[in-house]
Amino acid sequence: MIYLDHSATTAVDPRALEAMSPFWTEAYGNPSSIYGLGRRAAAALEDARTRIARVLNCQPAEIVFTGCGTESDNLALRGVALAQAARGRRHLITTPIEHHAVLHTAADLAERFDCDVTYVPVDRHGLVDPAAVAAAIRPDTALISVMLANNEVGTIEPVAEIAALARARGIPFHTDAVQAGGYLALDVQALNVDLLALSAHKFYGPKGVGLLYMRRGLRLQPAQTGGSQERNRRAGTENVPYVVGMARALEIAQAEREVETARLSALRDRLTSGLLARIPGAELTGHPTRRLPGHVSLVIRGVEAEPMLIALDLAGVAASSGSACASGSPTPSHVLTAMGYDPQAALGALRLTLGRENTEADVEFVIERLPGIVSRIRGKQGNG
Ligand SMILES: Cc1ncc(COP(=O)(O)O)c(C=O)c1O
Repeated sequence: MIYLDHSATTAVDPRALEAMSPFWTEAYGNPSSIYGLGRRAAAALEDARTRIARVLNCQPAEIVFTGCGTESDNLALRGVALAQAARGRRHLITTPIEHHAVLHTAADLAERFDCDVTYVPVDRHGLVDPAAVAAAIRPDTALISVMLANNEVGTIEPVAEIAALARARGIPFHTDAVQAGGYLALDVQALNVDLLALSAHKFYGPKGVGLLYMRRGLRLQPAQTGGSQERNRRAGTENVPYVVGMARALEIAQAEREVETARLSALRDRLTSGLLARIPGAELTGHPTRRLPGHVSLVIRGVEAEPMLIALDLAGVAASSGSACASGSPTPSHVLTAMGYDPQAALGALRLTLGRENTEADVEFVIERLPGIVSRIRGKQGNG
């Protein structure tokens, strides 16, 4: 199988797996316990926090461990919005191309907590204009949230620029960095952000663990009530093995980032140009240059994603689409429609995301096979 869906998830790095292994049956203590077994778990947790803080260039105490990227985004948005609402600020700014973890949370805050949300439009490449964000700011703006890199089209947003203008006005700024974890610099000082969400399974760590960087002094209402874990910001016994695995995976991904970025960018560019040259009606979506290194996203006119994904699967290629296909009634991607694609074109979205195990041979195989798949489907559909 050729796995081309690294934006969906990645395999666990064996080095991360090895780091996790003592914490299942040997060092299984509860980090809150005072005896030796508990202290060993607590030390591992704090060691992981310190290692991650080094990557993010922040204080260990500014990191909150969570159960996934979705939880981190929820905690950031709801936690800050509710804390700010208590001070009379109820306006949120975000973009229409965010992950549902952000969009559905913003919608919930609007519906149930009387927040007012401004969605700053994006251009054809999915890029947010910092000046448009600046223009949307109001005296009651409580939080701005703009993702670092988009999951569907790979566009890298000008986060440092937007965060700087939020900082100048004293407005908390959150970025969903889930797709950027293994590929972009995560220095929160250089990015100027107050909150940053990550998820381990996107950078060769385990699924079901994430983190939220939260700048010291920021007020946040916790989502859960319970114990005093994570300095009262996220109650619940910490998942020590997963946190240890996440820290190791992040260190490795960031240490290997430059070399891997160069390799993946070359594969990405070859895959893109090979497919565009051989498939009439195919168009690259997202920004042509400001994009994640392994990320290829296309719309292919006159074809729907589902038969393409099934044919690719039969050919041994795991890929995905920008749209969520629910039992025969596909919905066009909210990202592509926000970028100005008509719903019909958006239904032909294909996402091929490269990662560590991919080779030039994988790329050549897809360039060889996909054009035939597309013309067969077009033939069957009688429109091309
Ligand atoms: C941009 C973005 N944000 C958030 C998430 C959610 O992360 P998790 O799967 O860890 O909940 C994803 C996952 O696809 C994502 O791509």
